[in-house]
Parts: sequence; structure tokens; C-alpha cells
Amino acid sequence: MSSFISDTISNPRFPLFATAVLSGATAASLILGYQALEREERVSNLKNSIPRDDPALQRLNSFGGSIPAPLDKEDARNQQLARRAQRGDFDEELILEQLARNRVFLTDDGLEKLRNSFVIVVGCGGVGSHTAASLARSGVSKLRLIDFDQVTLSSLNRHAVATLADVGISKVQCLQRRLIAIAPWVKFDLQQEKIDGHVAPRLLGPWEDEDGRAPDFIIDAIDNIETKVGLLKYCYDNDLPVISSMGAGCKSDPTRIIVGDIGTSTDDGLSRATRRRLKLKGITSGIPVVYSNEKTGEGKAELLPLADEEFQKGDVGDLAAMPDFRVRILPVLGTMPAIFGLTVANHVILNITGYPVDYLPAKGRDRMYDGIQAFIQGSEDKLARLTDGGDTVGLKVPLTVGDVAFLVEELYNGRSAITGIPTKLVLVRWRRPKGSSMTVLGEGKDVQKCSTLRLSDLVCMTKEEAVRHEKEVFKGKKSLKKVYDTATIEKVEALLEEAKTYEELR
Ligand SMILES: *[C@@H]1O[C@H](CO)[C@@H](O)[C@H](O)[C@H]1NC(C)=O
Repeated sequence: MSSFISDTISNPRFPLFATAVLSGATAASLILGYQALEREERVSNLKNSIPRDDPALQRLNSFGGSIPAPLDKEDARNQQLARRAQRGDFDEELILEQLARNRVFLTDDGLEKLRNSFVIVVGCGGVGSHTAASLARSGVSKLRLIDFDQVTLSSLNRHAVATLADVGISKVQCLQRRLIAIAPWVKFDLQQEKIDGHVAPRLLGPWEDEDGRAPDFIIDAIDNIETKVGLLKYCYDNDLPVISSMGAGCKSDPTRIIVGDIGTSTDDGLSRATRRRLKLKGITSGIPVVYSNEKTGEGKAELLPLADEEFQKGDVGDLAAMPDFRVRILPVLGTMPAIFGLTVANHVILNITGYPVDYLPAKGRDRMYDGIQAFIQGSEDKLARLTDGGDTVGLKVPLTVGDVAFLVEELYNGRSAITGIPTKLVLVRWRRPKGSSMTVLGEGKDVQKCSTLRLSDLVCMTKEEAVRHEKEVFKGKKSLKKVYDTATIEKVEALLEEAKTYEELR
């Protein structure tokens, strides 16, 4: 029992006090109850005004046709209500009541922007269904849904709204079917197509009405790499606002989900392959992505090996880059696509309404990675002078911010390998190179100097530890055994071995 109530009951004045509170509460609940009743009546009037057995609708049913056929009476009623609502024949007050929480959060102005917006969701599976559902519930009134696929039984573990009755119908139709029953005023444009270069201009073009509004946001919730990269490239080239969801497969840790730039999204299968291909097309940053930096580990789900018959079919392509996920059965925990999808919807809602966004952890981390990169550059310059003796001006270090992020977050779990301290981290070579730490190519004006550094050379430490390490191991040429205990050395060596296997995947 809460202390307020127990204090009140033990208070000698309780009866009086209780009566006062209760009568106030009774009056309030009467008023609220009345308002609720009135609202309920208005909703049921609205629903009842729709004839239950409309012969015209039944005729339409049996012929099918271009309008998706209503599949049962409930659908028929929902569709009719939706047709009316979309013509504007729907109580505006009811809409505002349904969106009341959003309205007070986003202000009238923000909600207005959201209600006028047009959003395209490409990929309507586990991730996209949650995004679309959340946008519809939040007030977005024009949704174009693009997906060529159908709802399968096995997708029900992660879909936002699909029911057993939806298995076998198209994913886009399933979403419309369920979402008009939630927000009948939302206008849907269903495109059951695969998006590629030829159809992109049409599928990503303006909404077809007198206003011809361009999309306020495009959501990439595609799980196929070729299609994904194609869409992102098209949006990038045409300055269309897009956000991309990376893979939720094999993930289980919600605290590792991040909204950041494609340039720093770390290495999970889909994100690495997507980033690599975008890089080949000259895009290294400028696209917001939702990703997880969770690493696979012992006992965790992994991508199942391909069945032999899939190999025999031959069209599997480059396995390392996983060009076609769908050939393999990807383990997906039902909760993860939902969290990815809702994170995407959240970003889009904030962006459209102009609500302040400050993804601090990722931003703070970006600055940290830049700092670490600068430290490595300085450290490599010093080391090259030490090992080579020559001029190190223009020395290039072959390490991207993404590499830094990967090593610090993934391999070293954001902690010093020496003491486990999680702050002021840098990366430093573990061993003093045997020969020169720099290779020099060319001569004179065309000279290129590149450090020999590899991912599997670097250890994460605090800056203080690293400075001491440089002094003793690099300058002092002390053996590691003189500086560290055996357990530390073994731990670090094991991590460096692991880094090697990642390096081979690049
Ligand atoms: C919305 O997103 C676009 C594209 O990512 C970006 O250019 C713009 O600055 C964002 N606007 C706000 C208000 O966050």
C-alpha cells in the first residue's frame, strides 16, 4: 500500500478527508464518464451509418477488380468508413481526440505538419510494418507503401499488425487492411512492386493529387542489399530525405541500437555490405541509419549456413558480402525489427514536426572517434621517426573512423584492455614494429608514405596508459613481459587474433 494511503487511513480525520476526495472523484468520473459516453456514441453513430450488407459491395467482392476485395464483413465496413473519412467525411474532433497525446506533445503546429505529410515506406516486413503502423497512428495522412512480397506465416513473429487471415495476401494490402481500421482517414498508395532504377522515379515521385506533394521522408526498410543500395543511391543523388534501417537479424540488445550516419555505422552484416557498396558508388556519409553495434558472440544466434541445394542453384553470389539475405534463413528475434522500425518512425516524426533532435551518444562517440584517429596519427608520426629516422611529413594512416569505431566498440567493448576503464580511450600499437613502421612509395613529388598499421596491431587503452606504453615499449624498447602481467598479455593477444579474422573479411 502506498504511504499516502496508509497515512490517510491511520489519520483520525480520514472519513471526512476520504469523503471529500471521493465526492470530488465521483463528480469528475461522472463528467468524464459522460464525455466518454458521448464520444462512444459519436463513434458508434459513425459506424452504424454504414450499411452492414451493402449489395453493391458484395457484387464488387465477387468480381474482385482493381480495388482490393474486402475479405469479410468487418473489412467491408472498415473500407467504407475509410472511403468516407478520406473524402473528408469524418468528425474532425474525433481525429483530434485520437491524436490528443501527440497533439499536446508536438503542439498544434507540429501535429498539423505531421498530418499534412507524405511518407514512403519501402519494404513492409518486420521493420517497415512497425514504421508504417506507427506513422499512421501518429497522424501521417499520406502513406505510400512499396513491397512486392506477400505475408507469410513465419513473418507473424515480427509483423506489426498482420493476422493469420493475412497470410498469403500482399504485404502492402495487409497493412492497409489493418491500418484503415485504426486510422480510417489515412490515404494509402499501395505499390506491389520491386523498386529498381527504372521504376524509382515513379515510385518515389510526388503524391498524385492536385497538390502533387513531394515525399517528406522515404524509409528504407529493405532487407535485400542490391535493392537497398539502389534506393539509397537514388535518394542521395536526388536529394530526397531518406533514413535506412540496417539489419535487425541476429540482434538481441536494445541498448546497442543507434541512430547515426552511414559513415560510422559499425560492422554488422547488412550494414557493412551496404556501406561497402555505397562507398564503391562514391557515397561515404550523409544518410541517417538505424543500426546496432551488437557483436555476435558465443551462444548468440548466427546466420545459418546455406543449404547445399542453394549452392547448387548457383546464383548465390559473393557470400562474404551476403548479397541476397533471403536465400538463407536469417534468425530474427521478433522484438528487434519492431524496435528498429519504431526508431525509424520516431526519427521521421521528429524531423517532420521540427522537434529538437540530439542523438547525444552517437554524436559524442563520433567526436571521440575523431579524437582517437588524431591520436593514432600523432603516434604513428612519432613512431615512424623512431623506427625510420626519416621525414614523416604526409604520412598516411590506413584507418577510417569506421575502423576506429569498430575496434573500440566491438572488439574492446568500449573499455581499456589493460584496466577496463571506459573513459578517455585511445588506440595504440601493441608491439613495436620490427623494422620501419612506414612504407615509402615513389620519389620526389610523387612520394607516398603510408604507415604499416593494421587493425590487428591496435589495442584500446586510456590515453595515460597509452602514453606510458609508448614510452616504455616503443622508446624504451622494453619487452611486453616487463611492462604487463601474463594475464593481460594473453587477453590482449587473444583480442588481436580476433581482429585478424575481421580484417580478413574486409
Ligand atoms: C530532416 O532531415 C533532413 C534529411 O536528413 C535534414 O536535412 C534536415 O536538416 C532535418 N530537419 C530537421 C528539422 O531535423
